[in-house]
Amino acid sequence: MTAYDVVRPLLFSLPAETAHNFGKSALGLLQSSSVSRRAVRRLYRVSDPRLTVERFGVEFPSPVGVAAGFDKNGEVTHGLADLGFGFTEAGTVTPAPQDGNPRPRLFRLPEDGGMVNRLAFNSQGAERVRDRFAARGLPDVPVGVNIGSMNDSDAAAAIEDYRTVFRTLYPYPDYFVVNVSCPNTPEEYNEQSPEHLRRVFGTLTEENDEDKPLLVKVGPDSTRAGLEELVDIVHEFDVDGVVATNTTTDHEGLTSHNRVEWGGVSGRPLRDAATRTVRTLAGLTDLPIIGVGGVDSAETAYEKIRAGASLVQLYTGFVYGGPSTAKRINTGLCDLLEADGFDSVEAAVGVDVE
Ligand SMILES: Cc1cc2nc3c(=O)[nH]c(=O)nc-3n(C[C@H](O)[C@H](O)[C@H](O)COP(=O)(O)O)c2cc1C
Repeated sequence: MTAYDVVRPLLFSLPAETAHNFGKSALGLLQSSSVSRRAVRRLYRVSDPRLTVERFGVEFPSPVGVAAGFDKNGEVTHGLADLGFGFTEAGTVTPAPQDGNPRPRLFRLPEDGGMVNRLAFNSQGAERVRDRFAARGLPDVPVGVNIGSMNDSDAAAAIEDYRTVFRTLYPYPDYFVVNVSCPNTPEEYNEQSPEHLRRVFGTLTEENDEDKPLLVKVGPDSTRAGLEELVDIVHEFDVDGVVATNTTTDHEGLTSHNRVEWGGVSGRPLRDAATRTVRTLAGLTDLPIIGVGGVDSAETAYEKIRAGASLVQLYTGFVYGGPSTAKRINTGLCDLLEADGFDSVEAAVGVDVE
């Protein structure tokens, strides 16, 4: 029994977005004092060389990171690092502030171990996030920034949106992710079409003077042919990796009361589709893959790693698991590696790929 087992029912009695904001404020408070930061780090960080992974020129102390959406405006990067996550991804950040969809727009699926959301890029905008990074600095683990376009942008305006966020935040993160797979933003055009992707990568590559790692985030519902096409374009533009996957619009098989809410499903119901996407991608490219979707334990993280992910991320598993989530997964991963005779995470990456 952990303290979170006691706190969770209270948090879960609040509307999901209110609980999320409450949790983030608590983390904000913890990261505001060096005394509490030291105490949190001592409690939750697992330091083990077997967990270290290096990809696209960045060293990650653990392969277990926080997925985009949890810290949309980069407010708690230090707190998340203190909790033992090996990296964190801020965003999605849009060029200007925008509200996203009206509330309620985030729902728990407790019986399914998932969540459904239709937030649609609520963001404080790139300048606020830049000012925050400039004022507070960044933690001692890698931080990525996930970039997106305004909800009312057409295909041409979206390219300029990506350019603006990229330019505004350029000096700060260790890597960028272009988000072309949010199921909740208006669909005026196909974000994952080859023509659009070529324009996006063409523009960002041109802007990328210092060769910052640039990745792309895909959805879980792509066909093999769609992924083959994507990988060809990724290779053509020297994109550094793929984040797989975003949430799914597939509500099939959900049993929780909130299954009728429209939006993207995350957590356990997404796990298999995300792992399949990781495995397919790993069979198509040697580029780094960040596996995300339904990771909530050492076993589910290890499954993604064996399927070809060199790094994993989670959001929903953290909401259900609480502050000790990263520690539990990091410790458990070391045990799983040992049981299978691997001397590092690196040695286990992709062993299940045919
Ligand atoms: C409430 C919520 C908000 C999210 N916002 C974003 C976002 O802004 N950008 C993004 O790329 N992904 C976003 N995601 C998707 C997550 O990054 C992740 O891809 C997905 O939730 C699957 O991981 P999980 O099963 O561990 O939650 C969001 C997910 C949730 C649950």
